[in-house]
Amino acid sequence: MQDAFGRRIDYLRVSVTDRCNLRCIYCMPKEGISWIPSQEILRYEEIAVIVRCMAELGVNKLRLTGGEPLLRADLPDLVRMLRTIPQLTDIALSTNGLLLAKYARVLAQAGVNRVNVSLDSLSAEKFAEISHRPGVEKVFQGMELAQACGLSPLKINVVVIRGKNDDELAQFAELTRKYPWQVRFIELMPLAKDALGPEAFVSSDEVIARLKELGPLEPVSSLHGSGPARYFRLPGAQGAIGVISPLSHSFCSSCNRVRLTAVGRLVLCLFSGAGVDLREPLRQGAGPEQLKRIITEAMAIKPEKHALQEKDACPGSVTAMSQIGG
Ligand code: GTP
Ligand code: 5AD
Ligand code: SF4
Repeated sequence: MQDAFGRRIDYLRVSVTDRCNLRCIYCMPKEGISWIPSQEILRYEEIAVIVRCMAELGVNKLRLTGGEPLLRADLPDLVRMLRTIPQLTDIALSTNGLLLAKYARVLAQAGVNRVNVSLDSLSAEKFAEISHRPGVEKVFQGMELAQACGLSPLKINVVVIRGKNDDELAQFAELTRKYPWQVRFIELMPLAKDALGPEAFVSSDEVIARLKELGPLEPVSSLHGSGPARYFRLPGAQGAIGVISPLSHSFCSSCNRVRLTAVGRLVLCLFSGAGVDLREPLRQGAGPEQLKRIITEAMAIKPEKHALQEKDACPGSVTAMSQIGG
């Protein structure tokens, strides 16, 4: 499956719920947003039908996101259904980790290959300040258990925010000496405009320059893969350090992904409204061939790139990042 710019689309991110048990400042307003009524949310059977169509069209990598995906009841049931789709070689999960200790084992048994955990501070106080809820110890327990259950490579996503957590870069990087984890520093994308101004942005180049004070950073090209991260290693470290730079080093020209929202809209770019509804046709009785035709046609309107650098850019299809899962 290709888009109009010749990019091969083989990666689908499925948001299974818009709900979240944190309120991270860059992702959702502090007071929260109103949740989508449950009848509007795709049932697991519906998700599985759409994913199967996408897989037959060339998707082999799948990521479950939210909101917080582990808040959706019986998520392992969905994983078991998706595991029967032969084309899927990689099923991953992006989670805030609060419920990971509870679910790691059953997720691994159900067929999840690996997890990415969003964690912005190692200090209890700052974690609560950024996420507006406590829980750093639980997240850490969850990561250790995920590791023990074979959910690897485990990746930690750190959104770097000046004045909030940019004094913890070294501590996060040091984790890669003790654990075989990939710690990835992400450039803040300007979505929660009211909460954080442009002064909160820290570029990946600045992150790398500051980390070099810990020791030489060797580039690890074998990890680069098709994702947006660029990787480095501290001498002798088990794990790796990554940077994800949606603003300073846009990766749109090699974009391989599309998204399915919890209400069944196929969204073609994180920052554009371009997309197509799949829920209605599905509920009206469309079969796989008809759905595949709608999906293939939608690829033609995938935008070439985001316009985040432009003044007043905003995500097209949603009001908060939490509604699309990053
Ligand atoms: P891996 O396959 O493990 O590398 O996962 P991933 O990086 O695709 O997924 P993850 O959910 O961990 O996302 C990491 C960061 O990259 C998050 O901040 C996302 O918002 C950001 N990101 C992921 N996909 C896109 C994208 O298509 N465009 C932009 N601009 N940012 C993205
Ligand atoms: N800028 C950068 N990353 C973000 N994420 C959510 N909102 C933003 C933002 N505004 C990240 C989360 C998570 C991933 C799925 O998306 O931290 O790791
Ligand atoms: Fe792809 Fe849009 Fe993300 Fe760019 S911003 S990498 S085009 S989804």
